[in-house]
Amino acid sequence: MFKRLLDNLNTAVLVFDEQLYLRYLNTSAEVLLAESTRQLLGVSAKNLFKSSDSAFLTNLSHCRDTGSPIIDYALELHHGDNPSAFVNVSITPIGVNNESINELIVELQPIDNRMRISQEEQLLSQQNTARLMVRGLAHEIKNPLGGLRGAAQLLDLELSSAELKEYTQIIIDEADRLTDLVNRMLGPNEVPNKQFLNIHEVLERVRWLVQAEVSPTIRLRCDYDPSLPEILGDKNQLIQAILNIVRNAVQALGEKGTITLKTRICRHITIERRRYKLAVRCEIMDDGIGIAPDMLNKIFYPMVTGRADGTGLGLSIAQALITQHQGVIECSSKKNHTVFAITLPVLSP
Ligand SMILES: Nc1ncnc2c1ncn2[C@@H]1O[C@H](COP(=O)(O)OP(=O)(O)OP(=O)(O)O)[C@@H](O)[C@H]1O
Ligand SMILES: [Mg+2]
Repeated sequence: MFKRLLDNLNTAVLVFDEQLYLRYLNTSAEVLLAESTRQLLGVSAKNLFKSSDSAFLTNLSHCRDTGSPIIDYALELHHGDNPSAFVNVSITPIGVNNESINELIVELQPIDNRMRISQEEQLLSQQNTARLMVRGLAHEIKNPLGGLRGAAQLLDLELSSAELKEYTQIIIDEADRLTDLVNRMLGPNEVPNKQFLNIHEVLERVRWLVQAEVSPTIRLRCDYDPSLPEILGDKNQLIQAILNIVRNAVQALGEKGTITLKTRICRHITIERRRYKLAVRCEIMDDGIGIAPDMLNKIFYPMVTGRADGTGLGLSIAQALITQHQGVIECSSKKNHTVFAITLPVLSP
């Protein structure tokens, strides 16, 4: 029961003995250090983090020698080749036996994670507000547009001159074009019809649809983890979301290039303040022109486009659909390497 409790904590917990060898770590600590208990048990504190992280070691030794608990803030720790982690540290001596310290409990609270979550939340809420504004605008346009088209049709019936009918036909065609746009601006309006499904069914469908649209010089590769668990999702909505991302990748490639669809399992992931034990991660990678750094933060807003003939709605719709699945889309890009990563939580049946 205690192990279960410890393994479900968000805080990384490590226990060192008095020689400062690692004797215990919980699951969050394994995630933070990106190594398993088996690999880490018995490792000395001085080998756990790089020598530049001496503040941690100093705190640990000081706590052992004085027996006083220590709290330190915003320490940067490097373990192995992992990116550095910023943490708040609390060290508590325990097992005072004949006045000697037996063990030290270390609690590490990643702070970049918290900052990342609040930044993400802020961005998501701004994008959501922009989406609501665009929806509101679309609603206002939709009704008069219907009236306009109806009137043009009636007028068309009254006209006998073919020359004049050309004008009414232009009004009708343009009204239809605008209706399509307005419908896309309104975004997904159906409540998802969720069923258990394998994400590879969705990806394979998208691959098949896109391969039929593009020239053979554009390769669609897959790199799937076949052991992925099923997720609860609306197949059509997920196809739509991923199709929008893959079509963007095709447009970024131009004449030729490669798009890779990759899937992996993710453990202990936080999305919008909810923590999930398991999630499925799908990456859509392309070796196209890439996204300019000043565009990267804007592309999920509705009506933001970098293409002359784009409407800027594809990614906004994809994000609305993935949000309906409690998931998240992230993007990173440099020249010849753009990755859109969709993380979808695995919810227990
Ligand atoms: N894989 C990618 N590589 C390079 N740029 C991309 C990629 N994906 C998206 N973008 C950029 O993000 C912009 C926004 O994409 P989004 O799908 O929302 O709109 P769009 O493609 O311009 O128009 P729409 O999808 O509505 O037809 C694109 O115009 C493009 O500049
Ligand atoms: Mg698009």
